[in-house]
Amino acid sequence: MNFQELLNKAKKLQTNAYVPYSNFRVAAIVILKDKREVTGVNVENASFPATICAERTALTQVITLGYQKDDIEALFLITDSNSLGSPCGICRQFMAEVMPMTAKVYISNINSKDEKDIKIVKVQDLLPFAFISESLKGNSK
Ligand code: THU
Repeated sequence: MNFQELLNKAKKLQTNAYVPYSNFRVAAIVILKDKREVTGVNVENASFPATICAERTALTQVITLGYQKDDIEALFLITDSNSLGSPCGICRQFMAEVMPMTAKVYISNINSKDEKDIKIVKVQDLLPFAFISESLKGNSK
């Protein structure tokens, strides 16, 4: 994984975030096993809950392109946070649905200069004991 390259791309991508309300720019790059990269930024809305996070913008695009869970290798995230930001709860739930639980999530922020400033976690670390499709089994209807 070329973290320096990903970091540069993500910082550039952040400038596309549509953030008139928070001015908090987030960008996500989903890295697929075929090496394709699918990007997303946060897109806000005057009706605040209608905002979509960068992670979900990228992941919905991955599905739209016809890829499936096992095609995903990792997700690279950058936020405008001073400290290392972390995906919101809705995005964690979304990741647990469409990414392998063992896929890596690389978390960087505005202070990240190189690989040592990037936190690496797995989807399963972000949402342990997740409510997933198997959890619905047992419904007799
Ligand atoms: N945001 C993301 O894009 N991803 C996250 O995981 C955390 C929050 C966005 C949503 C909103 O546009 C802004 O950051 C402030 O919450």
